[in-house]
Amino acid sequence: MSFRLRGLKCLTADHPPLRCSSRRLLVFNRSIATSCRAVVLPRFGGPEVLELRHDVSLPELKPNEVLVRARAVSVNPLDTRMRSGYGRSLFQQHLPIILGRDVSGEVAAVGGSVRSLSVGQEVFGALHPTAVRGTYSDYAILPEDELTLKPASVSHVEASAIPFAALTAWRALKSTARINEGQRVLILGGGGAVGCSAIQLSVAAGCHVSTTCGAESIDRLLAAGAEQAIDYTAEDVEVSLKGTFDAVLDTIGVHETERLGINILKRGGHYMTLQGEAASLTDTYGIAFGLPAATAILLKKQMQYRFSHGIEYWWTYMRADPEGLDKIRRLCEAGKLRIPVEKTFSITQVREAHEAKDKRRIPGKVVLEVD
Ligand SMILES: NC(=O)c1ccc[n+]([C@@H]2O[C@H](COP(=O)([O-])OP(=O)(O)OC[C@H]3O[C@@H](n4cnc5c(N)ncnc54)[C@H](OP(=O)(O)O)[C@@H]3O)[C@@H](O)[C@H]2O)c1
Repeated sequence: MSFRLRGLKCLTADHPPLRCSSRRLLVFNRSIATSCRAVVLPRFGGPEVLELRHDVSLPELKPNEVLVRARAVSVNPLDTRMRSGYGRSLFQQHLPIILGRDVSGEVAAVGGSVRSLSVGQEVFGALHPTAVRGTYSDYAILPEDELTLKPASVSHVEASAIPFAALTAWRALKSTARINEGQRVLILGGGGAVGCSAIQLSVAAGCHVSTTCGAESIDRLLAAGAEQAIDYTAEDVEVSLKGTFDAVLDTIGVHETERLGINILKRGGHYMTLQGEAASLTDTYGIAFGLPAATAILLKKQMQYRFSHGIEYWWTYMRADPEGLDKIRRLCEAGKLRIPVEKTFSITQVREAHEAKDKRRIPGKVVLEVD
């Protein structure tokens, strides 16, 4: 890949910051970066549809954007779902697209209005769920406010596992439920990346945390600060949980977890599910009918539960949040927020990585290393 070799010097920390405001993307010693490797999704389907292409063009940087030389990108459930057609009402028209939300790497170039980051700095961050050009690439492009400095104590592989999951948890717990010190928080499905982040964010906020998870996750989640971890495969969760809660984050979002979460809340408490129906309804009925239908269903449930239980009901989604990302960075730096990485693959093995997640052969987080 000629570009990567010729452009490499641009990425060193001692080189003065480069700003890209015109059609030039990255200019150094007469080298012009116009393309790179990327994992492309030409059509929806199984892992076999993924293609690692070597000549994917790099779009012009917008003034607020940052070009990141990716070192590691994590695999999120959204990636495998998008590959299978989830969100097709939005993404179909843009095919072929590049998958991937999370990235950790180095700043290779910055747009004209970027002030907080400069070339050579190590950064990590995540794209919002509807971004069309993803991060499975040698070079990812993110808005400045979707990136932050990577703590030196965390490797690129570890850092890439964190932002999308942790920002999802942040959106629910801090922006929606506004959890506070001393409150009781229940995380249904604490064993995954979002659940594990949610436990650590709640503990950092001074909350008392209970969670449900599989048997293998119990010790890890207690070590992360949960006061109670209930094996949902072996125990009666409703019997094991005592008292009521101020907030419930439901990462599973099936009928029985929703019923449990709603019934166990205090009046005025917040139930938040990550399995909102907006995308699936839009995929089924199209944007014109699906979105209004989703809004109507959500409003009906919100009114119903406010009336019957006196609680607030939410579908929560990951959102870019510079303040949240900064707090996440500081917690990582302090060793208070970690998502264990179960296995890494080279980006050239992206099909194997997706297949392993599809077939549930690897329970924890999978990261693709971009060598
Ligand atoms: N709305 C959004 O914006 C948004 C953003 C991110 C993720 N999500 C969704 O949220 C879910 C979690 O994402 P993630 O990244 O954390 O996935 P993940 O890392 O793959 O975690 C999934 C975990 O859920 C646990 N689990 C499965 N069934 C369970 C049950 N009945 N009770 C308790 N735990 C159960 C398992 O943990 P054990 O090993 O302990 O059994 C599994 O490891 C996914 O469905 C994802 O699509 C939504």
